[in-house]
Amino acid sequence: MTLSLPQLGMGTWGMGGTFEEDQSSASESIEMLRFGFELGFWLVDVAELHGGGLTEKLVGKAIKGYPREDIRIISKVSRDHLKYDDVLKAAEGSLKRLDTDYIDLYLIHKLPPGVAEPAAETLSAMERLCNEGLVRHIGVSNFSKIQIECAKRHLAENTIEANEIEYNLLFQKMGNEIAPFCKENNIHLIAHRPLAKGILTQGEHKTMKMLSNKYGKTPAQIALNFILSQDITAIPKASNKKHLEENIGALGWKMEESDVELLRQLDGILPYEKIK
Ligand SMILES: NC(=O)c1ccc[n+]([C@@H]2O[C@H](COP(=O)([O-])OP(=O)(O)OC[C@H]3O[C@@H](n4cnc5c(N)ncnc54)[C@H](OP(=O)(O)O)[C@@H]3O)[C@@H](O)[C@H]2O)c1
Repeated sequence: MTLSLPQLGMGTWGMGGTFEEDQSSASESIEMLRFGFELGFWLVDVAELHGGGLTEKLVGKAIKGYPREDIRIISKVSRDHLKYDDVLKAAEGSLKRLDTDYIDLYLIHKLPPGVAEPAAETLSAMERLCNEGLVRHIGVSNFSKIQIECAKRHLAENTIEANEIEYNLLFQKMGNEIAPFCKENNIHLIAHRPLAKGILTQGEHKTMKMLSNKYGKTPAQIALNFILSQDITAIPKASNKKHLEENIGALGWKMEESDVELLRQLDGILPYEKIK
């Protein structure tokens, strides 16, 4: 079964807490995700790390009542759980919290600091999860080309089907470097932090202002369309219904190539805290 992903999905960072559980806006987060499904979003990105596990529980509640096969869930094993048995335990925990029989796409969230390559045992455990039907597809996150090649070598019957990386107008470098390799190897690229944590929605830069006026689109729609037009899935997070509706408006139109080129010039122009 090949992995099919939409152009846009929903991020969940902060829903139910950041690194620790926070119940204070739990019901609003469930409502937000369900509002997203009604709008036409059918991909949710989560991780065992999010909200100390609460975010997966909220996603599990949000998908109730929707046909499971209509929704794609991405979840991730944390960098502290990359030993064989820990991967199996982490996936079991995620499945329980998500209250579902399978995860559509299971990613290695990132490698621990100072570790250059993924270990064979991590990939073997992921392969077992896949072969047992608990995970439909295997992928990685924040991986370089060399790290993906190494991960692929550790898989016998499966392959790496996605790489989720930080990619947005202010941070294009990694995406530009890895995109041709991913294309050649049929690896989906998924852009996290596609709005640079919201900075790009302010549209203060003259190029963003000019293109917003030219296309009649908001800065958020311009920033997301730039990603989608390259066949990269974007997973913006929105905890506001108006934002979700606005983000859907990034679909279904195209910028002229000369304007895309102007947006390429925005790489690195503003400092913001990139992933650690
Ligand atoms: N794999 C990884 O290592 C990794 C790392 C980071 C993130 N991620 C994933 O990627 C997702 C997205 O990244 P992110 O949440 O860090 O940043 P982001 O999606 O780039 O930005 C989110 C921010 O943008 C705001 N926003 C969204 N749509 C907007 C709109 N139309 N107008 C104005 N503001 C808007 C949100 O505000 P409101 O909440 O108020 O709507 C929020 O403050 C995460 O939620 C997570 O699922 C993965």
